[in-house]
Amino acid sequence: MEHTQTAAGAESWAASVIDDLVAGRYTRVPPGPPTNSLWARPGSISLAGGIPDPDSLPIDQIRQAYLTVLEREPAQALEYGPIEGFAPLRNYIATELCAEPGVSMTAENVTLTSGSSHSLSNIVDTFVDPGDVIIVEQPTFLGALRTFVSSGAEMVGVPMDSDGLISDALDATLTRLGHEQKRVKFLYTIPNFHNPAGTTMTLERRHALVDIAQRHRLLIVEDDPYGQLRFRGDPLPSLFSLARGRGVLGVGTFSKLIATGLRAAWVIGEKELIDALITTRYDAGSSQLTERMIWAYVEAGYMEPQIERIIQVYRDKCDTMMRALDERCSKYLSYDRPDGGYFIWSRIPDGLNSPELAQIALSEGVSIVPGTVSMTEPELGLPFIRLAFSYVPQKDIFEAIQRLGRALEKATKTA
Ligand SMILES: Cc1ncc(COP(=O)(O)O)c(C=O)c1O
Repeated sequence: MEHTQTAAGAESWAASVIDDLVAGRYTRVPPGPPTNSLWARPGSISLAGGIPDPDSLPIDQIRQAYLTVLEREPAQALEYGPIEGFAPLRNYIATELCAEPGVSMTAENVTLTSGSSHSLSNIVDTFVDPGDVIIVEQPTFLGALRTFVSSGAEMVGVPMDSDGLISDALDATLTRLGHEQKRVKFLYTIPNFHNPAGTTMTLERRHALVDIAQRHRLLIVEDDPYGQLRFRGDPLPSLFSLARGRGVLGVGTFSKLIATGLRAAWVIGEKELIDALITTRYDAGSSQLTERMIWAYVEAGYMEPQIERIIQVYRDKCDTMMRALDERCSKYLSYDRPDGGYFIWSRIPDGLNSPELAQIALSEGVSIVPGTVSMTEPELGLPFIRLAFSYVPQKDIFEAIQRLGRALEKATKTA
């Protein structure tokens, strides 16, 4: 009884001072995405979450790989490990998973983290002071935007088109910021199957970007969670490989290759940059058990078949969604067909705005993400929505797009 009273007292104490307690820099952070409970409304279909296909999770292989580790090296797996992560897995990332022509890496060029969201926090903690500038693509990944804003950095957006980040606009922005004597810490870009824009940066743009970055001595943070999930066209070289690894940090994750729940990811880069990332971490490293499990998973030969399997799943889902959109929504929406990844980004009719459309869509039983959450200035996202085809069951895609079509009809009538 006494315990309950104390707990209730503590709750009201926290409520009364919470605004003073929360660090000021967080007050500018944009709100998170719609919550899972909203996506999971009974009867509603989610095109909102950038979440892997649940039926493709390799549950049996993960179980087997955990068992292997717990039988083979239980003590090491359950103790603290090196901050930079389990060496054989770092070596695999350096020499196989991220190997590309023109780049030669060893484990020293890799640090492991607890998800690429954590990689981005680690990068910000290491390099960014309040008032520094971070350049992002417009639109960009909401999680990155929130992490960057919470560091107290000034955000500067550079526009994209169907070919990716517009290099001339970046060049002009850097020149202007130079004249203003701003300290630009890095550019954050997602060249492959962009979240949310679905686009892939062309080879010409990649070359131009590397050239501009070298001219302005700009660090590039290249986030590539979806690059292996290409279901059309030929792979393009990463910015990291075009720059021969100089001045680029490559951020990658096992979330979209194996499972988001692992919270395991990496950063690759020049040894000096990686060492700087390691020295600003005071968290005793990421999960040894999980890193060793992933290595056992790789050793067992599970990785490549898993990637091949999920590419097929996302190709089929994307094709189905494109067909459904063409049949039901093409009179309202304009969109490009993605070459991989999880997302279709679409312009909505003039006169509509994306948060209102998202509300109407929800009342019709389908959840979508308004473009406003992906922009440094939310108004820029009013004409756009993001549709994820990764999570929705294949059998529900047509119905989801029918519902979106009804929402568009309703919204255009009342606009
Ligand atoms: C571009 C981008 N970066 C990073 C992440 C986060 O990945 P992780 O699960 O490794 O934190 C996501 C997830 O949606 C993403 O789309």
